[in-house]
Amino acid sequence: MKGDELKQLEDEIRNCIKCPLYKSRTNTVPGEGSHNPAIMFIGEAPGKQEDIQGRPFVGRAGEYLTHLISTLDLKREDVYITNVVKCRPPNNRDPTDEEIEKCLPYLRRQIKLLKPKIIVALGRHAAKTLARESGISFKGITRERGKISRVRIYGLEISLVYTYHPAAALYNPNLKNIIEGDFRKIKELLNTDDTKKKRGTLDDFL
Ligand code: URA
Repeated sequence: MKGDELKQLEDEIRNCIKCPLYKSRTNTVPGEGSHNPAIMFIGEAPGKQEDIQGRPFVGRAGEYLTHLISTLDLKREDVYITNVVKCRPPNNRDPTDEEIEKCLPYLRRQIKLLKPKIIVALGRHAAKTLARESGISFKGITRERGKISRVRIYGLEISLVYTYHPAAALYNPNLKNIIEGDFRKIKELLNTDDTKKKRGTLDDFL
């Protein structure tokens, strides 16, 4: 059952020692949310609060992401939230290419199990990684944000959307309007017939 497979994946992540980040982490942050989400949000890597709590996007950037999700008339429990890298890089430095590569099989399995209709990549690291995994080019977050691409990823046909990382808006209020505009586009996309068709079997809710 999907719930069991997700639980097993979480356990594997909790015991992961594939890259050096395991030495400095307090907790791994596998991800959380609906097991049958129409939409999946993928950030970069856990920060301090996430490392302490073992949950994604629970610090200040997370508060803003939770607000942005509410503008879609959704709650956090209606979506799935995770990161490309599941452990906190020391001092919140950028994850290295090696850390991303080592962690990517977990994200791949999450996407294949959850089968979202829409993936929103938050920030350049997630955007670059998901573009590459979808086999499409990526010319930088400033040029690509707000675009909606129909892509095939891991055998699924989905809409891939990039926007700025919510933390960026905390440091640069000008980006807030842009992110909020991107979320209005995501809301329209969510209301298209194809996305509304997302339904689960009983198993999806267990
Ligand atoms: N930034 C991220 O990219 N992910 C989190 O979970 C928190 C902050």
